[in-house]
Amino acid sequence: MRDEAKDAARLRDAAFAAMKNAYAPYSKFRVGAAVLASSGEIISGCNVENAVYSEALCAERVAVATAVAQGLTSFEEIAIASESDEPSPPCGSCRQTMSEFAPDLLVTSYARNGNKATWKLSELLPEAFALNHLRGRT
Ligand code: THU
Repeated sequence: MRDEAKDAARLRDAAFAAMKNAYAPYSKFRVGAAVLASSGEIISGCNVENAVYSEALCAERVAVATAVAQGLTSFEEIAIASESDEPSPPCGSCRQTMSEFAPDLLVTSYARNGNKATWKLSELLPEAFALNHLRGRT
């Protein structure tokens, strides 16, 4: 049995640590994310912006893609940390990416003062497009 409170605290700390590495000179909105794989490993990411603004990578997608690159494709929970005064929910693109691997992922977002909000990904992205829809082709 996993210790959910301990996992949540580890994830929160990893998300805030990753936030420090954010490369966000354009928006000045630093975001960190940490995803807990079913193996117990924690993988972090931060937002990575670019002079071509539209090429910005969100922290959540960087964390998930990094985990997948390490062979991890099953996830339990993700923590997001941002510099916002309110817990900021993940953007639509990140919801879709997370849903590919973990439609029931637990998503907790932390504001800079530690305030948090928690959702199930299925609440944030109901009726997600998924592999079974591709298979529905005739
Ligand atoms: N950003 C994230 O990293 N995650 C989100 O869920 C929302 C937005 C980043 C993208 C961009 O670098 C900055 O925040 C402002 O949108």
